[in-house]
Amino acid sequence: MNQFKFLFSVFCLTLLLSCGNKEKKKSNSAFDTKSETVATDTSINTVEITASDAMQFNTKKIVVQADKKVKLTLTHTGKMAKNVMGHNFVLLKKGVDLVAFGNKASTAVDSEYIPDDGDDVIAHTKLIGGGESTTIEFDAPEPGTYDFLCSFPGHFAIMKGKFIVE
Ligand code: CO
Repeated sequence: MNQFKFLFSVFCLTLLLSCGNKEKKKSNSAFDTKSETVATDTSINTVEITASDAMQFNTKKIVVQADKKVKLTLTHTGKMAKNVMGHNFVLLKKGVDLVAFGNKASTAVDSEYIPDDGDDVIAHTKLIGGGESTTIEFDAPEPGTYDFLCSFPGHFAIMKGKFIVE
């Protein structure tokens, strides 16, 4: 399976390189309808995650490639308001203790649960409520495994996972 994915990626990259940006913009061409992957910008890590009224992310593991930007979109698929079931995505620097950070963040009410010292965070989205969506872009950190969480009070016990840079 991994081998297939790799070969498919190489195939797409080859198509992209040989056809260039001109083809990418023709969204209705037969070329694009063969494979949506071709239209995807392979110079960037595109990550789409969701969070729900059940206080959960749809994933516990996000894998990206190093030396590329990350474009991450968080969508709240629920209906509950931000002040009741708010969600964000917070990526912690290496070595930052998730529980300690989560506890500190829960008191940062005025800054939507992002401590304003800023020392612990690589990147974070804004806090959103049901039906909302938010996108951020940041440089992938150096290869390794990082923790991510939702820093809304009480959520990090469940809403957390690993962000792996390969
Ligand atoms: Co949350």
